[in-house]
Amino acid sequence: MNFESSHSDYWLPPFHKHHTSKMKSKVRILIFLLVVIGIGFWRGDISPYFPPWDERPCACDRCLFENDMLIMQRFSKFAEPFLSVNYNLSEDNFNWWKRLQAEKGDFSTYRNKVDRMFQMFPASAYVEASSPERRRTCAVVGNSGNLKKSHYGPLIDFQDVVIRMNRGRTKGYEADVGTKTTHHVMYPESAVDLDNTTRLVLFPFKILDLDWITKALSTGFSGSSYAPIKSNINANKDLVMVLNPAFMRYVHDVWLQKKGSYPSTGFMTLVLALHICDEIHVFGFGADSDGNWSHYWEKLMNNKLKTGSHPGDEEYKIILELAKHQILKFYTG
Ligand code: C5P
Repeated sequence: MNFESSHSDYWLPPFHKHHTSKMKSKVRILIFLLVVIGIGFWRGDISPYFPPWDERPCACDRCLFENDMLIMQRFSKFAEPFLSVNYNLSEDNFNWWKRLQAEKGDFSTYRNKVDRMFQMFPASAYVEASSPERRRTCAVVGNSGNLKKSHYGPLIDFQDVVIRMNRGRTKGYEADVGTKTTHHVMYPESAVDLDNTTRLVLFPFKILDLDWITKALSTGFSGSSYAPIKSNINANKDLVMVLNPAFMRYVHDVWLQKKGSYPSTGFMTLVLALHICDEIHVFGFGADSDGNWSHYWEKLMNNKLKTGSHPGDEEYKIILELAKHQILKFYTG
């Protein structure tokens, strides 16, 4: 797929695969990357999660750049990870998103729900800006059973931003998972109540989810889904942020090369962290010895769970790669 023409949401360097396949010399790669990074910084798009050259284990070597095109795609920041009142999702991206959960609504229904949503929530998501004075350190906490007896609690709480997800809980598990939550990622079927200071990060997988967030924080939601949904939740409506469906596609197409049906909540959260954090500590990712995504707070009931419709093995491999190249720190429990 030609990402330059089909995805207008993120910038990619002018680049031609045909030529790059012949670019063997380290010098040419280095010059190319310097030019691209230079343009990226000029445009303000390039990710700050490239560690400084002298901190990279493979600086000036080829290992991090085996597939130059893919690396450049992954490390070009996606322009708008969150929906905002002025953002227009393309119909092409809408159609991609719509097939995730085979929902019936059309594009105009989607737009109406988004309009109604932004009558209630902040017009754009708050993300602390990166600054030379302050490194934004983040803990991304998945729900893996490998957190049990890990004693990671203090290390998690030590980070400025702590992102938890779905039914991830702290009460009773403080020593292993900490107590602090600054951001909580959820969708209607995985929703939990939040305190007044935690940012609710909605990952919408269907139009109903946009309707749900609007109503669950006001009049109450009465629709149904494939699993029970809370009709009301406690959360601060001024701290709601909604993931851009086009960002989900970017993670699936670029990061996962379209493997699996679509990315897991945890993996999308991790790529999101690459966009909003300067230093990332990753906890609670990894299947159990039978390959199931079991949770730290419960005994697994379905031993055929595996990683559901998500490409769990691929996601795990990428996390290991990122850790190897010091893009993030991965704690395996
Ligand atoms: O199970 P749940 O979706 O709530 O978990 C949140 C995320 O944590 C998953 O989307 C997955 O990325 C990650 N996870 C994992 N290994 C597990 C359980 C969850 O990597 N055993």
